[in-house]
Amino acid sequence: MTQHQSLKSRDLTMTVLMTPDMVNFSGNVHGGAMLKLLDQVAYACAVRYSGRYAVTLAVEKVVFKQPVHVGELATFMARINYVGKTSMEVGIKVVTENPRNGECRHVMTCFFYMISVDENRKPVELEAFTPETDEDKERWADALKRKETLSA
Ligand SMILES: CC(C)(COP(=O)(O)OP(=O)(O)OC[C@H]1O[C@@H](n2cnc3c(N)ncnc32)[C@H](O)[C@@H]1OP(=O)(O)O)[C@@H](O)C(=O)NCCC(=O)NCCS
Repeated sequence: MTQHQSLKSRDLTMTVLMTPDMVNFSGNVHGGAMLKLLDQVAYACAVRYSGRYAVTLAVEKVVFKQPVHVGELATFMARINYVGKTSMEVGIKVVTENPRNGECRHVMTCFFYMISVDENRKPVELEAFTPETDEDKERWADALKRKETLSA
């Protein structure tokens, strides 16, 4: 098994402590700080899955359903939902936890559309992936619907 094969995974989870340098004018975590973390997670998930550099083509459904508070732990759970010829959809669920009392909140779910590119930033083909479980098939079908909306 090569090093890349051993690392190849469709899932990536990252937990970050929300610190005071991330606040907006109302004292909660700045939306831009969350977007930066989401982009990092999507990038890391896509690159680790494909073993190549990837760029963000589009982001879907960024809705901040609830404010994120300083002092909370934000966990970003990412998964490759769909693999096209050169594109990947990365779905990210964000859950926050108050580490003092363990209270958890699902604050957002969004979708990043990443393209695998070579050193000249030209799209490169990905290894084919076929969803097998019912859950994977459902995620794949939902991602395809979103891809169509993106093209519209
Ligand atoms: C991502 C990029 C390399 C794609 O280049 P491109 O010439 O559109 O590439 P292609 O036409 O070969 O398409 C590549 C894939 O993107 C998909 N795609 C491109 N535009 C799309 C759109 N508007 N809607 C849906 N899918 C799209 C294609 O379907 C294809 O997917 P597939 O290979 O899995 O079938 C190019 O758009 C780019 O460099 N964008 C800037 C990326 C960037 O800088 N991101 C950071 C933003 S701050």
